[in-house]
Amino acid sequence: MEFGVKSGSPEKQRSACIVVGVFEPRRLTTVAEQLDAISEGYISNLIRRGDLEGKAGQMLLLHHVPNVLSERVLLVGCGKERELNERQYKQIVAKTIKTLNETGSMEAVSFLTELHVKGRDTYWKVRQAVEAANESVYSFLQLKTKKGEPRRPLRKMVFNLSSRKELPLGERAIDHAEAISKGVKIAKDVSNMPPNICNPKYLSEQATLLSQEYDSLELDVINEEKMEQLGMHTYLAVGRGSVNESIMSVITHNGGKAGERPYVLVGKGLTFDSGGISIKPSDAMDEMKYDMCGAASVLGVMQSVAELNLPINIIGVVAGCENMPDANAYRPGDVLTTMSGQTVEVLNTDAEGRLVLCDALTYVERFDPELVIDIATLTGACVIALGKHATAVLSQHNPLAHELVNASEQSSDKAWRLPLWDEYQDQIESPFADMSNLGGRPAGTITAACFLSRFTRKYTWAHLDIAGTAWLGGSKKGATGRPVPMLTQFLMNKANIAIDE
Ligand code: BES
Ligand code: MN
Ligand code: ZN
Repeated sequence: MEFGVKSGSPEKQRSACIVVGVFEPRRLTTVAEQLDAISEGYISNLIRRGDLEGKAGQMLLLHHVPNVLSERVLLVGCGKERELNERQYKQIVAKTIKTLNETGSMEAVSFLTELHVKGRDTYWKVRQAVEAANESVYSFLQLKTKKGEPRRPLRKMVFNLSSRKELPLGERAIDHAEAISKGVKIAKDVSNMPPNICNPKYLSEQATLLSQEYDSLELDVINEEKMEQLGMHTYLAVGRGSVNESIMSVITHNGGKAGERPYVLVGKGLTFDSGGISIKPSDAMDEMKYDMCGAASVLGVMQSVAELNLPINIIGVVAGCENMPDANAYRPGDVLTTMSGQTVEVLNTDAEGRLVLCDALTYVERFDPELVIDIATLTGACVIALGKHATAVLSQHNPLAHELVNASEQSSDKAWRLPLWDEYQDQIESPFADMSNLGGRPAGTITAACFLSRFTRKYTWAHLDIAGTAWLGGSKKGATGRPVPMLTQFLMNKANIAIDE
């Protein structure tokens, strides 16, 4: 879909459809009033007769409104004016796009960007509208033989801004949103791909395709043989039960000066997590194809930052692996030596993410990173703590934790901090090795992060647990592409990309 901004009055628009808001109860927005005036009360008459209450998300499509140049007018319920919040705004935009897609307008001009959303400016409203629009038209049809796409999909959406002065800001918002949407889309596509297709090799092929697409990107691939030489024994142990080779891809975005310290992202890429010998219950086990969403989000962020051409150096690590039960698989009781030299007693082969990540986190020391952020569907406990709405942020570095939470606020990609105090470290003590891979039931998300913290002492580090946010179940089943918006925002901030003038 194509997007644009303009500034004009509604009666002068000549488009397939113009989109205007109506508040509850039956109150016209300024723009709707303007149309009502030139149509000699056509709209207010309809509303008076009870055709539209104005409840958030209500839609009423009108054809040939008298004296209006556009073919159609879509009235959109926006709820009570004073209660219009971010979430409602995004929902209204998404619903609008769906409706336009179904009703055959190939082009539309929207005045919803003129609504007042508390605490948010024009940049935010345009950017979120574009992101929400892309979100609402997303579908994963690659593996369907009958595609069933809309006959006349919406091709172009133009957002109207109240003054010409705001046009550059709106254009910037569109550019940023498009870059983020591209990253979100690749993250979703790769995540939704089934585990018989999306294996570690597939992840590395996606990394290859991405690095071929942009001049700023370079790729290095580490296979099992190389991991062996590097001493990545815990990473290798997790993949040993699988016929699919473990592969770690390292994508570099050379946006800054040569020699400038890079920002490093490390994504958990378990293309299927059966639990291994500590096998998972079969209920919803299919969802463990999503255990590579951290890696997919790294691909997504690399796409976004390359698209934005951020003037900083960024390295994205895609840690691909599959956890399967097998005669050759690692077992509970095994003691393994990590790349760092520290030893780990395996108490549960289903706590595999931290075993893959710890070696990947040691590996990235060689880049002398400015900071490192890992992204992982690491613990079921995170879903219990925060549900599906917020990504967990854990860091011993307060400024970094704050910057991440701020970026999540800015991008409306929710995140919440959990503590990472030393007190929790005792839970992963082992009588037989330097630590165990299991912290018990209390504070499972925190003890998993405690484990990782023992491998990140040489640099500034934060951990994102996306077990709740990376995908949805039920009727909305599918990957979300989170936290691509938050991380892209974080890196935009680091690159001093100004949002406001
Ligand atoms: N990939 C899972 C975590 C997970 C589970 C994410 C369900 C989303 C939904 C991870 O590898 C895992 O199995 N974690 C265990 C750790 C436990 C054995 C310490 C868990 O959370 O149960
Ligand atoms: Mn597991
Ligand atoms: Zn896992």
